[in-house]
Amino acid sequence: MSRQFSDEFYRTLPKDFLWGVASAAYQIEGAVNEDGRGQSIWDVFSHTKGKTFGGDTGDLACDHYHRYPEDFRMMKQLGLKNYRLSIAWPRLLPEGHGTVNQKGLDFYDRLIEELLENGIDPSVTLYHWDLPNALQEKGGWANRDTAYRFEDYAGLIYRHFGDRVKRFITHNEPWCTAVLGHFIGEHAPGLHDEKLTALAAHHVLVSHGLAVQAYRDLNLDGEVGITLNLNPVYAASHHDKDNFAANIQDVFSNRWFLDPIFKGQYPAELEQVVGSLKELHQAEDLAIISRPIDFLGINFYSYSIVEYDDGSPLHVKNVTPKDRVTDMGWPVLGSSLTDLLMRLKNDYGSLPLYITENGAAYVDVLEDGKVHDPDRIDYLADHFEAMAEAIRRGVDLRGYYLWTFMDNFEWAYGYSKRFGIVYTDYATQQRIPKDSALWYADVISRAANKM
Ligand code: FCB
Repeated sequence: MSRQFSDEFYRTLPKDFLWGVASAAYQIEGAVNEDGRGQSIWDVFSHTKGKTFGGDTGDLACDHYHRYPEDFRMMKQLGLKNYRLSIAWPRLLPEGHGTVNQKGLDFYDRLIEELLENGIDPSVTLYHWDLPNALQEKGGWANRDTAYRFEDYAGLIYRHFGDRVKRFITHNEPWCTAVLGHFIGEHAPGLHDEKLTALAAHHVLVSHGLAVQAYRDLNLDGEVGITLNLNPVYAASHHDKDNFAANIQDVFSNRWFLDPIFKGQYPAELEQVVGSLKELHQAEDLAIISRPIDFLGINFYSYSIVEYDDGSPLHVKNVTPKDRVTDMGWPVLGSSLTDLLMRLKNDYGSLPLYITENGAAYVDVLEDGKVHDPDRIDYLADHFEAMAEAIRRGVDLRGYYLWTFMDNFEWAYGYSKRFGIVYTDYATQQRIPKDSALWYADVISRAANKM
């Protein structure tokens, strides 16, 4: 079998290193009108003409809402013992707050029971982008009130599921919520407004801090953290101007969220990127945002090389080589993950880390019941080597959740991009493990036996 690891690789991993897969509710569940679920901003966005590839929506997706028992059976067969899922806020609170939808709680109760019966440990993300549309109508994340609604929603989840779920992630990729949702407009709610972007980012961070405190207040015996999408940035040369550009890009991509969470302050350069921040703050906000967390989740896909450019607003030009890219066009360089992990340790302290997403889209072809995806295996193997190298150098990395279990609704790209290690045949809803799934199963079983 392709891409084997040495014995030393397996010995390097901590004994209880978690191997898993990740998903998000709107990308797989479907059943958007069932059992009292309210509308989310992604229902509205995907049904708006021209917003997604081919007008694709998550109405059916992988029909996981009905097929989860069979999906978890397949996970078990592959030896997967850890699963990161997200809860759809509008299933529990159709209006975003107020009356709780019992059928929503029942669904996730059944789902979690089914996971546990299959020996799979759930990690739960509270917010993976499907804001109840009723809250968007009141301003969404640009409205500070949404942070308090999120605090209540988080409390509901902890109280109800906190006995069985031991790892909670408040937010998935706040950068995307803010920038893709409010500035670039590629994600719901599809806005193009710099001021609302900075406000949304700030309120997401405040809501995170409030939700961390809500977890502490309940004295539960699990852990709570946040997941950031991080992208290591390199300067194209040692010239001052290129270093300047790399610093600005790093502030925009990474430190905008890392610094307030870990240092209780925004980077000084952030105002050059998103305008004045002062008016967003209430005095105690940064203390709320920087409440200590138990771990940081990292979603890692790619890296950037940048140079100084007089002509662009931020003076940054992306010059990353495109000789090795995924089907998303994202450049691949495994060692940049080691660099990122070392940087986090050096600049932000030795907090426990999890890779909460990593993986790649490639063009997959189903032939004679098989999908050969050597590029995906190479991508994964390079990143596993990069993790091992960081662990050798002292990084406290505790687990890895591959994005993603099965091909699903890839947001604005609809069903045109396949990130799964399991192929989804959308016409029949059949699931077919790709070569990468069998390869990953082999890695997991060797790691368990420390070969
Ligand atoms: C991340 C998202 C995830 C998926 C992957 C490819 O940004 O968190 O839902 O779309 O990208």
